Amino acid sequence: MTDASRNAIEFKDVVLTFEPQTILDGVSFAVRPGETKILMGGSGTGKSTTLKLVLGLLKPTAGQVFVDGEDVTDYKESKMIEVRQRIGMIFQEGALFDSLSVYENVGYRLFERGADGDEVEETVRRMLRFVNLEEAINKMPSELSGGMRRRVGIARALVGSPKIILYDEPTAGLDPPTARTICELALKLRDLEGVSSIFVTHRIQDAVVLAENHATIDDEGNVVIVRNRKEEAHANTKFVMLRKGKVIFEGNGEELWGSRDPYIRNFLELE
Ligand SMILES: Nc1ncnc2c1ncn2[C@@H]1O[C@H](COP(=O)(O)OP(=O)(O)OP(=O)(O)O)[C@@H](O)[C@H]1O
Ligand SMILES: [Mg+2]
Repeated sequence: MTDASRNAIEFKDVVLTFEPQTILDGVSFAVRPGETKILMGGSGTGKSTTLKLVLGLLKPTAGQVFVDGEDVTDYKESKMIEVRQRIGMIFQEGALFDSLSVYENVGYRLFERGADGDEVEETVRRMLRFVNLEEAINKMPSELSGGMRRRVGIARALVGSPKIILYDEPTAGLDPPTARTICELALKLRDLEGVSSIFVTHRIQDAVVLAENHATIDDEGNVVIVRNRKEEAHANTKFVMLRKGKVIFEGNGEELWGSRDPYIRNFLELE
């Protein structure tokens, strides 16, 4: 069955219970093509769980999950593997294989598929160039800083040019400039590649970077991040906030900063 065909991702009345706890209690939201949905909420509110539901690593207790307009709720593992190939996942902490080099980590999916060496190297270098880390290709994860590890995780997720990318707290534990670099990569993917995303974060600074900036190409062909195109950024950056299993806010950045809800204002440290 195909429904909600214009949306990259859609949740319809999703309930998820881990007995005796109901984590998601009738959650509905949609991610339009080219949109980044920033998913916020306190620790344990079900943000990582939401991403796992998109990937089919968990199945909802009730309700439906759509990917590219396809109802994947009842897909068996074999069909879900195909769906997952269209999705890039950036895990909390980067989740690199410590015994493999950067080259092997980024090329992992291609090796698995039996791609030949030249093709793997060409693709891996292209992905590493996107995250500005080509020089680290032969390093081991232990030789990298936290920010570099996250960027390698992003490069790995970009293999296969997925049109949907899920970010699970990609900036947690990073200093502000490094966190900004990660957000700027997400901006490039949103504005230059038309990627649709769910971006889980606790950090209001990430929300501001994503909601108020726009990536574009200047006259010399360089990628630049501009602040004076807020309207476009707002149009493609939307927020969902979870609390106690429910969506308590859905809207754009301006609406979020302007919220009168005391819980939201406190959460965002607006006062
Ligand atoms: N496989 C599981 N079995 C039982 N309970 C689980 C399982 N996975 C998650 N939970 C519970 O579901 C709730 C939501 O977990 P989740 O990891 O989605 O939270 P989160 O919003 O990502 O939190 P954080 O910000 O700390 O990463 C938590 O109470 C967690 O203990
Ligand atoms: Mg989490």
